[in-house]
Amino acid sequence: MPARDLAQAKPLPVPKQWQKEIESLLITEDQIAARVAEMTAEIQRDFKGRELVVVSLLTGTVLFLADLIRHLELPLRLDFMGVSSYGGGTESGDLVFTKELRLDVAGRDVLLVDDILDTGKTMDRVLAKLFVLRPRRIKTCVLLDKPSRRVEKVQADYVGFTIPDKFVVGYGLDFAERYRNLPFVGVLHPKVYRQHARTLPRKKR
Ligand code: PRP
Repeated sequence: MPARDLAQAKPLPVPKQWQKEIESLLITEDQIAARVAEMTAEIQRDFKGRELVVVSLLTGTVLFLADLIRHLELPLRLDFMGVSSYGGGTESGDLVFTKELRLDVAGRDVLLVDDILDTGKTMDRVLAKLFVLRPRRIKTCVLLDKPSRRVEKVQADYVGFTIPDKFVVGYGLDFAERYRNLPFVGVLHPKVYRQHARTLPRKKR
């Protein structure tokens, strides 16, 4: 099933306690749950009972990963790679690997999970690193896709939602390590990142 395209989505009301920091609600908890269930079913069909190595990128995938694999009726092993972009105020920050893979993926079916595909630099670098390890095949899965921001020629096999070029947080996605715990995906109020811009290294997105 194709990704749900939210390019023209009407902003939804934000829960009261978040109204100061979140400008609008882009994807509700229920919409996420419904789409993640569809993605799980699709992955299950495609891999037809084969054992998977799920490689999840830290840290933004925490909530998505938990929901995605919870109902996945396939044998799987789980591992994480740590990769972060530190822009130092710019958008083209260097990628830093903070945790390497521990499981052997040679000859294995790999499902690479990330929260958002933005410029594609992270996915591109990680795929290059994984291909060297000679897996049987790699499929990629992201909750969110912002195709308008793409720099690298990369796309995901499973996409939850295609979204406009807005700074989104929640359901694992952060700004300055905050807002990961929101159960929905919302658009961060520009005043929040303007306030932080002078004091914190700004992460892209
Ligand atoms: C974010 C996100 C993706 C990456 C996507 O990671 O989790 O991995 O950026 O951007 P790209 O397509 O432009 O490379 P971030 O470095 O913010 O780390 P985090 O997951 O810990 O928030």
